[in-house]
Amino acid sequence: MMERAARKAGGRLRRDFGEIEHLQVSRKGPSDFVSKADRIAERTIYDELLHARPDWGFVMEEAGTIEGDPTKPRWVVDPLDGTSNFLHGIPHFAISIAAQEPKLDGSGWGEVTAGVVYQPITDETFWAEKSRGAWLHDGRLRVSSRSRLSEALIGTGIPYGGHGDFGEWGRIFAAIGPQVAGIRRYGAASLDLAWLAAGRFDGFWESDLADWDTAAGCLLVREAGGFVSDYRGRSQPIHAKQVLAANDSLHSRLHKLLAGALKA
Ligand code: IPD
Ligand code: CA
Ligand code: CA
Repeated sequence: MMERAARKAGGRLRRDFGEIEHLQVSRKGPSDFVSKADRIAERTIYDELLHARPDWGFVMEEAGTIEGDPTKPRWVVDPLDGTSNFLHGIPHFAISIAAQEPKLDGSGWGEVTAGVVYQPITDETFWAEKSRGAWLHDGRLRVSSRSRLSEALIGTGIPYGGHGDFGEWGRIFAAIGPQVAGIRRYGAASLDLAWLAAGRFDGFWESDLADWDTAAGCLLVREAGGFVSDYRGRSQPIHAKQVLAANDSLHSRLHKLLAGALKA
């Protein structure tokens, strides 16, 4: 049902993306059009999921939190991850949807048990279910087995206007950059994590993310055999504030570099 909702909203986003090129030249620019596309995608996902599970709640980037039955899971939704890419006509963006369980003692939200990251332009559906693996369509995903930093391609998210800490990012970049084969910033965190699960990236770090950016992606990485932590190396159900993810051996090497950079 998550995939169905993502595909339905994705079809519309794909059509809207086709319009963007024409709008680049208009004086107002395409930003109003993009925020409308974003809201319509979210509404489509909301309607689909509400119909399938009427008593589950929602956390959505645009509409915020909608409470459901507190004993039931909730949906965590980013209807358009990679908005800046979309706005600039760059075909790299995704829809991210995850299901998160309430904690047993009623003290908030715990594990993510299912997630989908859908890339409308390539029509790729990355999905994972807890203890049932991570998949790209019907092909099982595994994180890469590279263990040498010198061969590793690492994804990251760079802070931007008023968002994130450039000094911290710069220190981590200076520590990791010289040791690895390359660093990439593609601009859609959910896809960065899905690509890590698929072995395209060997590692990833970013801070100041939101739950809807990371909920599905972190489950994908874990179910693909990878390790996800915050910058102190601790594991949490959803990583939003800080994410460091990689296969086991690269995770410990990257964590050493990152921790050294933040101490210095
Ligand atoms: C953003 C993207 C980007 C990341 C930002 C997010 P949005 O989400 O995931 O890669 O660096 O921190 O806010 O705004 O495009 O949904
Ligand atoms: Ca996002
Ligand atoms: Ca978004």
